[in-house]
Amino acid sequence: MDYDDFSDLYDHQYDLYRDDLHFYAGLAERMPGRVLEIGAGTGRVTAFLARRGAQVTGLEPSARMIGRARERARREGLTLDFVQGDAAGFALTERFGLILAPFNALMHLYTPAEQLAALRNIRAHLAPGGTFAFDLYVPRFGVPGTLRHEGETFYAPDGARTDVFLVQRHDPPRQLLTTEYFADTTTPQGQLSRRHYTLTQRYYTRFETEWLLRCAGFAAPRVTGSFQGGPVTESSEVMVFQTQGEGE
Ligand SMILES: C[S@@+](CC[C@H](N)C(=O)[O-])C[C@H]1O[C@@H](n2cnc3c(N)ncnc32)[C@H](O)[C@@H]1O
Repeated sequence: MDYDDFSDLYDHQYDLYRDDLHFYAGLAERMPGRVLEIGAGTGRVTAFLARRGAQVTGLEPSARMIGRARERARREGLTLDFVQGDAAGFALTERFGLILAPFNALMHLYTPAEQLAALRNIRAHLAPGGTFAFDLYVPRFGVPGTLRHEGETFYAPDGARTDVFLVQRHDPPRQLLTTEYFADTTTPQGQLSRRHYTLTQRYYTRFETEWLLRCAGFAAPRVTGSFQGGPVTESSEVMVFQTQGEGE
């Protein structure tokens, strides 16, 4: 999944998403050493941790997402370290006391082979006694095949207005959810242009994820149904996983 095309829209859509920030910052405060963030995107979490004194390396495949993250770092006077690469293929000499994959980053691993390769690689980069933490949304979908506007409207400094519409396709046998985004921008002069983006996510069930972790050399994870803790229940919107290497 290539986020290059998405990079313009991403911060408009998600920069104000803060549900996860204090959870990941709390882990970073408790763990010594550098933190590795898998799928760091435009640095939303990376910058939040760095502002609190953590030393974070952000791994991210999309050059344009990294470009945005570096702009953010410059704007905020932060020193952020980004490495271009993907979860299965990256190779760093350092071992990390904390590895994070926030905000559904693992949903861009589409087959069991890709998932296992990535998780084994993450495991190999974890320092002895280190923690791997990530979150995934609980699979629950809106009406498929219906064009929707979910309140996403942004105004640029020049007054241009962008409305985001989306339509989703669900492929249950493959556990895939594809979202087509249409970003319609109207200039103050009334000129309308449309950009189109496609995002496919491979969603996970809770116990599938637990077994995947075990297969990749991790211990049975602690799973909560929110960033504040508590069990996964029918009303949970996220599943939050924390694990260590097996046998540690
Ligand atoms: C939903 S965004 C999350 C970004 C950031 N962590 C945040 O919380 O805002 C998912 C990110 O994962 C990245 N990604 C996609 N495939 C990946 C892979 N195979 N390995 C690592 N990251 C990947 C995307 O480029 C994207 O930036």
